[in-house]
Amino acid sequence: MLSRNDCLDLDARDPLAGRRALFDLPDGVIYLDGNSLGALPRNVRPRLEAAVQGEWGRDLIKSWNTADWINLPARVGAKIASLVGAEPGEVIAADSTSVNLFKLAAGAMKLRPGRKVIVTEPGNFPTDLYILQGLRDLLGDVELRVVEPGALHAALDDGVALLLLTHVHYKTGAVHDMAALTARAHAVGALALWDLSHSAGALAVDLNGCNADLAVGCGYKYLNGGPGAPAFLFIANRLQVDFQTPLTGWMGHAAPFAFSDDYRPAPGVLRGLCGTPSVLGLSALEAALEAFDGVDMAAIRAKSMRLGDLFLDLALERCEGFGLGCSREAASRGSQVALTHEHGYPIMQALIARGVIGDFRAPDVLRFGFTPLYVRHVDVWDAVDILSDIMARGEWRQARFHEVSAVT
Ligand SMILES: Cc1ncc(COP(=O)(O)O)c(C=O)c1O
Repeated sequence: MLSRNDCLDLDARDPLAGRRALFDLPDGVIYLDGNSLGALPRNVRPRLEAAVQGEWGRDLIKSWNTADWINLPARVGAKIASLVGAEPGEVIAADSTSVNLFKLAAGAMKLRPGRKVIVTEPGNFPTDLYILQGLRDLLGDVELRVVEPGALHAALDDGVALLLLTHVHYKTGAVHDMAALTARAHAVGALALWDLSHSAGALAVDLNGCNADLAVGCGYKYLNGGPGAPAFLFIANRLQVDFQTPLTGWMGHAAPFAFSDDYRPAPGVLRGLCGTPSVLGLSALEAALEAFDGVDMAAIRAKSMRLGDLFLDLALERCEGFGLGCSREAASRGSQVALTHEHGYPIMQALIARGVIGDFRAPDVLRFGFTPLYVRHVDVWDAVDILSDIMARGEWRQARFHEVSAVT
């Protein structure tokens, strides 16, 4: 088994080690929850100060032009595109992931008239399922076909308009084969929509290499845009001209400042916009994305797999009583691991009290995410050391760790 010194050696040789200094991480904290809320990049604070004081405070409404606020969704989208294998004109940053899911799923149904079926999997992230349920109820005559991953191929037939899947599962970290499933959807004439919330910035996603049609993802996880950061959406170039959004807001209009009465969609992916962009949120996200400048996503993925393996090797060796809630094969996992334990909630609270921040997902999953830009090998070693101490002492049995907060 690797020693703490071995981990320090690995950090010394880590090509991404220098990126950690770009983040403002609190002392005494090992942050293993960047898959839920990314840490604060140091350049976000000055960027927001400039946006608030200079752009908003001093220049007021002129900043839509002088600070180019109006092009933030496309500019930030282009930066995200480079991380997910898309062209700059295929991605915009806007709204929340949930709203973008609605826009793209509804748009997909319009692109496949006559087809009435949407396929997804049970246990998908709740908002993905809820949005599809709402869309079905709105449209009426739509079947939501919810099938286990092993049955997806068989569930795709010529009645299917859309396959919607989350690329990396939020709880287990299981990775779908995007290329194969997209190809299968296309073979029956359906479209594929991928939720990249747990992939963007963590895996070397290749949307165009996989021939993906549509995608969405979060700005506040591995992209580090801050709590409630704007999300993104991708519409493949070949679909843009026919894509119709159900939310025909003025910012997605071809000429918003013509103020005409009739809706006419903007060219390209900009038709995916709805209302006025969230300028402060987009400014923070734009600054945060600089942490990826010059970084090879393959290096990020390689380190993320190494960190996950290291955590599992150490935890399963040193801590008794845990089950495995994820694949043992790094290539089949995203940038997170999951342990299961019937007392998972108080164990996670005890860990957080000792400065190791992961999270808990009901009913029994302890989730640990590894953001390769700022998590070190030695952090993983120390986190498992603390976990094994908590288990050996039964520290989690204390009553205070059993009080359930609103957000877990
Ligand atoms: C797969 C997935 N989709 C969507 C979301 C969240 O969507 P929203 O930002 O709209 O709350 C999450 C949040 O954890 C997620 O894991």
